[in-house]
Amino acid sequence: MTRLAGKRILFIGGITNIGAAAVQAIVREGARVAVADIDEVAGPASVAAYGDAARFFPVDVTREDSVAALVAAAVDWLGGLDGLCQNAGFLRAGPVDSFPADLWDQVYAVNVRAQFFGVKHAVPHLKRAGKGSIVNMSSLAGKHGGPGRAAYSSAKAAVIGMGNSLASELAPFGIRVNTLCPGWIDTPFNRPAIDFIGGDGAVDDMVRATVPMGRQGTPDEVAPIYVYLLSEESSYVTSQALIIDGGSYS
Ligand SMILES: NC(=O)c1ccc[n+]([C@@H]2O[C@H](COP(=O)([O-])OP(=O)(O)OC[C@H]3O[C@@H](n4cnc5c(N)ncnc54)[C@H](O)[C@@H]3O)[C@@H](O)[C@H]2O)c1
Repeated sequence: MTRLAGKRILFIGGITNIGAAAVQAIVREGARVAVADIDEVAGPASVAAYGDAARFFPVDVTREDSVAALVAAAVDWLGGLDGLCQNAGFLRAGPVDSFPADLWDQVYAVNVRAQFFGVKHAVPHLKRAGKGSIVNMSSLAGKHGGPGRAAYSSAKAAVIGMGNSLASELAPFGIRVNTLCPGWIDTPFNRPAIDFIGGDGAVDDMVRATVPMGRQGTPDEVAPIYVYLLSEESSYVTSQALIIDGGSYS
């Protein structure tokens, strides 16, 4: 498995669920991965099985100084940079007429502003390499919306807009920028949205009614898209928002 042989990847938000599955797939394809997350307790154990192919780095993506320090440390360890994956996310749901402004800001800080910080500090290294791939995590919520999710949906929509703009700005430097839009992926991350909708039973009914494949996806069904977009197989693919949703957005 060598689709990513020799690639040096910084993967932010990579220790659980979708991120953990993606890091496993990226390492399996021959890349070295700097894995970053805010969870300093679970972080080192999450990469322990990968030996020299992965190392954990702590980061709080809401702080520019933390992201800048992460990029510097990761590039130092990797010896350069070929790809950046921004998978950290934060979801809160609630009625719009009582949604706290500071929670709105936090949703934007983790999902949107953080990705600006990551790109800002990683791009000089990708420019130096002469090419690169950036994969930012959005959501089907960024295209569709959903009850109780005005903050999250609009933040994820901003991620798509940011990706389109960055793709055109960075194409002359050989840097591709693509965005992932998964639908319902079965992880604990969705608990706030599930509770708002009415619990697990209500979500199961909704998924059966709106997803042609009739089920939620799994992290292992998102991970290969990260591999594809980091690899040379996608060398003419940029500025895309790839939907991974069992057919519900059709
Ligand atoms: N699960 C889904 O249905 C779904 C659907 C579409 C998009 N997504 C997106 O996929 C990504 C991963 O979701 P997941 O379901 O694997 O959930 P997850 O909770 O396992 O992943 C989110 C990660 O972000 C990290 N994080 C949060 N705040 C951070 C901060 N300030 N600094 C650094 N790291 C921080 C968390 O520690 C966690 O590891 C998220 O961006 C989410 O919005 C998920």
